[in-house]
Formats: sequence, structure tokens, C-alpha cells
Amino acid sequence: MPNKIRVGVVFGGRSGEHEVSLRSAESVINALDKSRYEIIPIAITRLGKWLASSEAENLLPSAVIEKADRRVAIYGDPTEPGLARFSVDDQSEGREKLDVVFPVLHGTFGEDGTIQGLLEMADIPYVGCGVLASSVGMDKVFMKRLFHEAGLPIVEYTHFLRTAWENDRDDLEHHVIESIGFPSFVKPANLGSSVGISKAVDSQSLRAAIELAARFDRKIIVERGVDAREIEVSVLGNDHPIASLPGEIVPQSADFYDYQAKYINDDGARLVIPAELDESLTREVREMALRVFQAIDGSGLGRIDFFLERSTGRLIVNEINTMPGFTSISMYPKLWEATGIGYSELIDRLIELAFERHREKSRNVTSYQ
Ligand SMILES: Nc1ncnc2c1ncn2[C@@H]1O[C@H](COP(=O)(O)OP(=O)(O)O)[C@@H](O)[C@H]1O
Ligand SMILES: [Mg+2]
Repeated sequence: MPNKIRVGVVFGGRSGEHEVSLRSAESVINALDKSRYEIIPIAITRLGKWLASSEAENLLPSAVIEKADRRVAIYGDPTEPGLARFSVDDQSEGREKLDVVFPVLHGTFGEDGTIQGLLEMADIPYVGCGVLASSVGMDKVFMKRLFHEAGLPIVEYTHFLRTAWENDRDDLEHHVIESIGFPSFVKPANLGSSVGISKAVDSQSLRAAIELAARFDRKIIVERGVDAREIEVSVLGNDHPIASLPGEIVPQSADFYDYQAKYINDDGARLVIPAELDESLTREVREMALRVFQAIDGSGLGRIDFFLERSTGRLIVNEINTMPGFTSISMYPKLWEATGIGYSELIDRLIELAFERHREKSRNVTSYQ
């Protein structure tokens, strides 16, 4: 029997989406085929410590963090790619090989290109988007610029730095109201899970919304608020990606799909899969999802979120998530399930795609004489 593929599943992380990651990772670890893969769970604490557990395979991710008795680090040295282990007293205990890493991390230091950069340095294949796609996928301003450049429909927006706001609040407020009006959505440019996002309906709520967003990022984006249905499509692949059937998020109570609705209330939102759209709109949104993925040079996976404006019937691209929620009941895998790819098969494919991308990249000449 061939050796098992050693998969490092990285989860947790220095991110507001730490808990979400634990839940995603738990699903991934449970679903990985133990006859094909050897799983090496790697937890990153909120403070950024990397931990491994000797008995991790049987533990829930949440328990891994508490019970972990070892610290680990990724080697950035491609001649010795893998994990360095340290015992509690920090004595090195040698290196452990990793064939591939699945960074099941959402938000900062995970979905934003940072861990991808580390894995590139170490020459370890990994699941999902590369450095560039991950970081533009996190930055709502640069993401919109690329979408616009690719001819994709986006919502009107403006953006500014926190320091500019602090310099002249009156002037900026005037500018935002002039260019965007009300209602508007105010967001930290780099974050996710609706953290720091609020809807502004007048001058007072606009100011409060900007102050809130400014706590989370140095860059703030304000968008025209659209009254829309929220449609999502999953994309899978590298150079020849495929798009799933679309689904719809129907927030149940809140004003919009906020953090509470996403993760706290079990009944905060309803997923309608497939979305009730006519054939031509279904085709259009799937094609557009592939263009979005390619506009940021995506690889592996991405969930593309759209607004379907009620008044005009127009599709507008909201964003791409390069490491979307990945529990077995999350939209990304559910859409694939509805399209004919089950959860475990999806994970197999993602790991294959990680190897494919790594092989493709390895063809590049890296020295020139
Ligand atoms: N321009 C907008 N108009 C209407 N609703 C919006 C707008 N932007 C965001 N929202 C609402 O806020 C939610 C979160 O915004 P989003 O940009 O997707 O941020 P995140 O990256 O945190 O998911 C969306 O799912 C939607 O419900
Ligand atoms: Mg979103």
C-alpha cells in the first residue's frame, strides 16, 4: 500500500474569525479519508502560537488548543520543508514532513496571503488561492478595482484611510454623502464575517459606522446600499475552474447578513439551494462567478457572492471569499453537494488541486545563467 498523504490542517489563527475556523476545521478533519491521508492538525492560537497535539487525530479542534502539549513551527527553508517540533521547554525535537497543507483559516493571517507566503517560502503545496489572489480577495478596495477592470458589475463605492478621517471628519463625511448617499454600507476594507460592518441611514449613523470600521482597519470603504437578494456560487479548480449551482442566503431577522446572523443565531439565515432563479439568470451568474475567480487569478476554491438588485433585476458582484466557511453545512460545500460533488470528494479534489498547482509552478525556471 502506498504511503499515506500527510496533510497538515491548520486552523484557528489570529483572526476575528478564529471560532469559525475551528468549526470548519473540525468538519474537514472528520471528513478526510483516514485510509488515504495522515492528518496533522496544527492549531494557531489567537496570539499566533502554533501548536500540535500528540493525540490530535482523535480530538476536536477546540480541544486541540487546550490539550496541546507541543509547540510547532513551519520551516521557511525549502531544503527542509515541514514542521519543527518543540517540547514545552523549547528543545527542538526534529522535523516532520508535510506533503500538503490545508489552511482552514478565515480572515486575517490566513485568508489574506500571509500563510500562503510562508508556505511558498517553504515550498509546501497548499489548498486554495495563492498569495496574490488571497490578499486581493481580502481587500475590498483592490478586489473591486480588479472586478471593474475585468468589466464586472460592482456597486458604487468610495474609500479613504483612517488617518484621513481623523484629519477632517466633516470634509470626508460631506464627500461620502455626496458620492454615495443613503443608505450606505460602511466596512473595514480588510476583514470578513461582517465584523465592523454597519448600515448608515443618516449623518449620525454614518459617523458611528465609520468610527466602528476604523477600529478594525486603516482603510475604510463605503458602498451604496442596495436592496437585493444575496446569491452565492462556489468555484473549484485552477486554470480551468468550474462553477456550482447558485444558492441564496435569506437573512431572517437582522437588517442584513451580519455576524450574528452568520454564526450566532442558528436560524439567522436560511440557505436556499439551488437559488430560485430562472435558467438564463442561473447561467449568467455561474459564468460571472468564473470571471470573478479569474479576475483575481484564483486557484483551488472561492465562493463568489452577488447581489441581485430587486428594483433593476441586475446582478452585482459583492465579493469573493477565498477560504469560505467550510463546515459540512456551510454554503460552499452545500452548493457542491447540490451540483454533484459530496463533501469528502470535494476535499480530495482540493488536495489534488493543491498538488496540481504546485507541479505547475515547479515548471518555472527560478535561476538564470
Ligand atoms: N452595498 C451593500 N448593499 C446592501 N447590503 C450590503 C452591502 N454590502 C454588504 N451588505 C450586507 O452585509 C453583509 C456583509 O458584507 P460583505 O461585504 O459580504 O462583508 P464580509 O466580507 O464581512 O462578508 C452582506 O452579506 C450583505 O448582507
Ligand atoms: Mg460576505
